[in-house]
Formats: sequence, C-alpha cells, structure tokens
Amino acid sequence: MTPAQAQTKIRELSAQIQHYNHRYYQDSVSEIPNFEFDQLLTQLVALEREYPQWQLPDSPSLRVGGAIAKEFVQVPHKRPMLSLGNTYNEEELKEFDQRIKKMLGETPYEYVAELKFDGVALSLTYRNGLFVQGLTRGDGDQGDDITANLKTIRTLPLRVDEKHLQPYQEPANEAAFPAEFEIRGEGFMSHQAFDRLNDEIAKENEKRTNEGKKLLTYLANPRNAASGAFKMLDSAAVARRTLDAYVYDLQADGLPFQTHEESLKFLQKAGFQVSPHFQKCQDIDAVMAYIKHWEFQRADLPLDTDGIVIKINSYAQRETLGFTSKSPRWATSFKYKAENAATELLSVSYQVGRTGAVTPVANLAPVKLAGTTVKRATLHNANEIARLDLHQGDAVFVEKGGEIIPKITGVDLTKRQAGSLRIEFVAQCPECGTGLVRRAEEVAYYCPNEKGCPPQIKGKIEHFVARKAMDIDSLGGKTIEQFFDRELVKSPADLYDLRIEQIRELEGFKAQSSQNVVLGIAASKAQPFSRVLFALGIRFVGETVAEKLTIFFKNIDNLAKASLEELTSAPEVGGKIAESVRAWFAEPENLAHLERLRAAGLQFAESENELVKLSDKLVGKTFVVSGVFQQFDREAIKLLIEQHGGRNVSSVSAKTSYVLAGDDMGPAKREKAQKLNVTILSEAEFIAMIS
Ligand code: IVH
Repeated sequence: MTPAQAQTKIRELSAQIQHYNHRYYQDSVSEIPNFEFDQLLTQLVALEREYPQWQLPDSPSLRVGGAIAKEFVQVPHKRPMLSLGNTYNEEELKEFDQRIKKMLGETPYEYVAELKFDGVALSLTYRNGLFVQGLTRGDGDQGDDITANLKTIRTLPLRVDEKHLQPYQEPANEAAFPAEFEIRGEGFMSHQAFDRLNDEIAKENEKRTNEGKKLLTYLANPRNAASGAFKMLDSAAVARRTLDAYVYDLQADGLPFQTHEESLKFLQKAGFQVSPHFQKCQDIDAVMAYIKHWEFQRADLPLDTDGIVIKINSYAQRETLGFTSKSPRWATSFKYKAENAATELLSVSYQVGRTGAVTPVANLAPVKLAGTTVKRATLHNANEIARLDLHQGDAVFVEKGGEIIPKITGVDLTKRQAGSLRIEFVAQCPECGTGLVRRAEEVAYYCPNEKGCPPQIKGKIEHFVARKAMDIDSLGGKTIEQFFDRELVKSPADLYDLRIEQIRELEGFKAQSSQNVVLGIAASKAQPFSRVLFALGIRFVGETVAEKLTIFFKNIDNLAKASLEELTSAPEVGGKIAESVRAWFAEPENLAHLERLRAAGLQFAESENELVKLSDKLVGKTFVVSGVFQQFDREAIKLLIEQHGGRNVSSVSAKTSYVLAGDDMGPAKREKAQKLNVTILSEAEFIAMIS
C-alpha cells in the first residue's frame, strides 16, 4: 500500500466506523455484528500506527485509548473554575433569592434548576469545532491535561459538525460562531459501570482466592472510582472503565446566546450529553418544588447526585451580579440532607497543624455511609467534645455532608456503658509534649512550641514552598520530611543554604534531581514581595491580604514599623490581622529569620508590578493615549510610557503633556487637545522620543 492509498483507506475506515458508532450509541441500532466492527477498528488502528501522519484528529480509534502518559501536564485555566455557594434548607435558599432580588432592583429574573452531579469537574476546549484539550478542575486556577482520557468518553463529541455552528452566524456581518469555546461539565461513572467493575473484581478475586493470591480491593464509590480513572496514565485502561460526562455550561467570547437555557439547548443539538432534567423556574417557589421532586426521585437516576444547582438564566443579569472571590453570586447549590449512620467511638486522637492548632479526631468502628466506609470523623475542637459530652466507647451518629469529612452529630445515650470515662482533651502536645495553651477568644488549643514542634516546622516549610507562595515545585512534602529528619532544614531560610552534595545523599536523589531542587530554590528568589509576605506564614495574612499590604506599605521595612493604626488603615486589614502582624514583627526570632531570607536575596519590596525601568526620559510627563497603533498595541504603549518614567492619565486637561494619537482617535479628543494647546504626538514621534 502506498502512503496515499493508506491515507484514503484511513479516511474510509474512520467514516465507516463513525457511522456505525453513531447508529449504535445515538440510535441504539447495531448494523453489523460486533466482530466485524472490531475488525474494522483493528484495521484502522494498525494503519494509523504505520502512518500516524494520516490519523484524523477525531479518529474513532481515540475512543479505545492507547496513549500512555508519563505524568499529566498542568495547564492554566483560561477562566478560573470556581466553586458554588451552598444552601442547606429552604430558608437559606430564600435568603439567596432575596439577595438576587435586591441586587437586580426591579427587573424580573428567572432561574434554571439542574441536578448537581457528584463526579469530577471537567473543562473541555473546542477549537474550530475540534475537541483539543480537556482539563480537570485542579485547584481552580490550573488543572491536569487529561485530553487522551476524555477522548475515550463516547458521549463527548470529538468534533462538532459545522452544521450546528453555522445557524448562529449572523448574516449581517458574517460573524462566525466563536472559533474557540469551552465547555464545563461533570465526569462520572454510572452506577451500572461501577457495579460491573466491582463484579469483575469479585470474579477475579474468586480466582485469586483459589490460587492463594493477594486479593484486589473493591471500588469504594462511583465518585472515587471516576476520579481515580480520570487520572490513570494509560488511556486504554481508562476506556475500559467506561466513564461518562454530562455537560452543563458553555463559555466563549462573543457567544450568540442571551441565556443559559439557549446555551444548553445548543449543546444538546450539537451532540453533547446534557442531562434532560434541567428546568426553567420563574421563581424560588418553583425551584423549591424542583428540589422536593428530586429529593427522592434522584435515587432512580443512573448516577450519584448530591443536590441541585440553581443559576440565573440571563447572561446580562449574571454580569450585573458578578462574582465573589470564590464563587458566582448568580448561582448556588442546595445540598440534600446528609446520610446518617450509627457506630462505636473507639478512641480520640489529636493532630497538630502548621499553626500549632490541635484538632481532635474520632476513631470509629468502620461503618458504611453514602457509599464509603467511614473510620474517622472530625471533632473540630474541645468545645465540640464538651458539647457532645463524649465518653469512651459511646455509640455515636455520624453524618457525611457534601464536605467529604464526616462528623459526629450526636450520641445514643441509651447505649452508654455505666462508668465509662468522659473524653478529656489532651493537655500536652501529642507531637512534642509541650503544654497546650488557649488564646483569648479562640476555641482551639495550640501547641506554643512553634520553633520546636515537628509538624509545625514542616507545615511552615510546606506552606513556604507552596505554589501560591514561593512556588518551589521541586520540593514536595516527602522531600521536606527527609530534609527535616536529617536536620538539613529547620526553617525556610535553611533551604537557601542547601548544597547539591547534601541533597544527593538523600534517598531517591541523583545528580540531576538534586541540581533541580537547588535550581528551583534559587529561582524562587525572583518571586515578588507579596508572595514572600504570604510565604512567611503570618497568621491571618493570606494571599489577598499579603497583596493589599504590599500595595499599601511597598516594602517590608515600612510594614515592620507600621503601628496598629497604620495597619488598619490599609484596605481589608482589620484589628485581628493588624495585631497578628504586629506580634509577628515583635518577635526577635522572626526578625532574625527575615534577615537570613533577605541576605539570601529574596524580594522584600514591591517591584512596581514587575515594572522594568528603561529610562528616565519621560519623568514628569503625562500622556493620554488614544486610538489604534501600528507597531504596538495600546497597552504596550502605556507600559512603555511607564517604563520610561512617564505617567498615563485618562482624559485631556491643560496639565496633560502629550496626547499620543493613533489611527481613529476620536475628533472630540483632538479638538480638546488643540484647544488646550496640548502637543499631539504620532506613534513614530513617540518612538523617536524614547529611543
Ligand atoms: S455549575 C461556578 N452545574 O459542582 C461553578 N456545577 O461547586 C459553576 N456540579 O465541582 C458550576 N453539577 O463540577 C454546575 N449542574 C451543575 C453541576 C455542577 C455538578 C459541580 C461542579 C463543581 C461543583 C461546583
């Protein structure tokens, strides 16, 4: 076969298989026997292996997987993947509705109610109709690229046919449907697929029992099974898990739709799997009726759901409502009541966190709850133990809310053993033995041995290297543990003294990986001041507060000497934060640590938004930039002005030094400049000025 013949054959086979697939999966008609179909597919896979250059980007062979990844590449989300607010009862839901009403003023609005699927959030990018990238949610800012795995989901189109996009082209300006769009949805494993896999494991285990081999573990619940499967490196193995996905959101610049409902209907038509149960609701009572309907009905669905989601239908209104830092104001979820189970309290253990806070954890006799086996529950703090009046060996009720971590909701007093001892909160730190303290107005007990208590030290170092802090990704928890155990690193500043030879001696490190660690640490010295400030781990100084403090105080010395009053005059800084900052800088040990970090070369002053100074040529000059430019875009021109010491202002006044005029500058601006005798510069004149 010549390459040209191969190309033709690959096209024919792909089209043929696509046709049978469509008939089978969309129309439930099997047009040819299974083995014949398998033969076609095998033929295609073989040809594609020989001539990979002719494999179509939406080849049906991608559905069976085959790509094996070494690890997943982390990719930033174009738009952050936020979470949803929660409500748990009718009252909270009505409060949500009241907030919407207030913010939208008098305008009428409607909701779309949907089921809340309990799976894995996905982001899918289509470019020119072709599925090009699929990401997990990750931390919301960036996720893992699991494209090859997602291609094995048969209900996700690998290509959206032009004919579905064309009707949305506006005849007036021939604007096309956005060339790139993103779809959000939930990946899941159906109950059927989950049971089938567990049946297979059962069968395999039967065999293994006879052969005296180690048994396989069963999948705990569909959600965990799905999330595990989506993250498998072998996409052919993923294909065998038969994952599925519902899509519920479409995003792009310049979408031709005004409402969410229109987007959902488009997605349905374009061949995506949209759960058919979404419903437009004219008011919150209609939403309540939807919630009541699905409370019991949802048991019959083919997948797990843990609540419902309500969303404002109109995109314009969504824009008015906007977002908080974590979630949209135009949507919320309603969580169905968590399931309960009764079990026995075996013991209470205590965990020490990065801040020294000691959290009690209940160890329980294993009990099945909402699909998983629960062995532990959080007890929050000492007050919670007192409130429950917990005794050794109590029969307790555990509940698992949406928030995965189960908690104890009550004690069955009828079962309490006579003479059983009351649970008393520990008095000493379980890690280092130091006496615990309770700070004024706080419920938590703390281990005050900040500088000597192992989990606190390790936790602080882990926080220091975290992505949103110094972002040293060559250092994971295990490596830090090894550094700490070998007494190589006892504080973040010690990291900057590490030498390659010291790292090489650790388990699992070779020359290259040791060098990577050192290089990663050195690169972190370029992290801007706000990151360093966050990395220091001052109580209550989170990422946002660190940014606000940076903008307000400019450098560490100003911050160190700021009074309580000065601190609270910074935006978003209240008394609690201000006091914590003061207390931190009052500690000589912290100051010494700071000096070591400074000597290591970390950034302790704001870098004027990473502004690289190029010259002082424009110092004292103000510019109004207007119109369209040839060589640079407007933002680049504005940056150049600042880099050369000038300032940008938005409107022309007698004090303006120059108006920098591109093409299409508005006539009104030009007239005003002329009237006020402000010099009008062309792009070329400006470039001459700075070069
Ligand atoms: S809309 C800003 N709709 O719930 C977030 N999310 O906290 C907008 N989820 O993990 C999300 N079913 O994947 C939306 N019908 C649905 C959903 C849904 C499940 C998940 C989502 C995310 C979480 C949101």
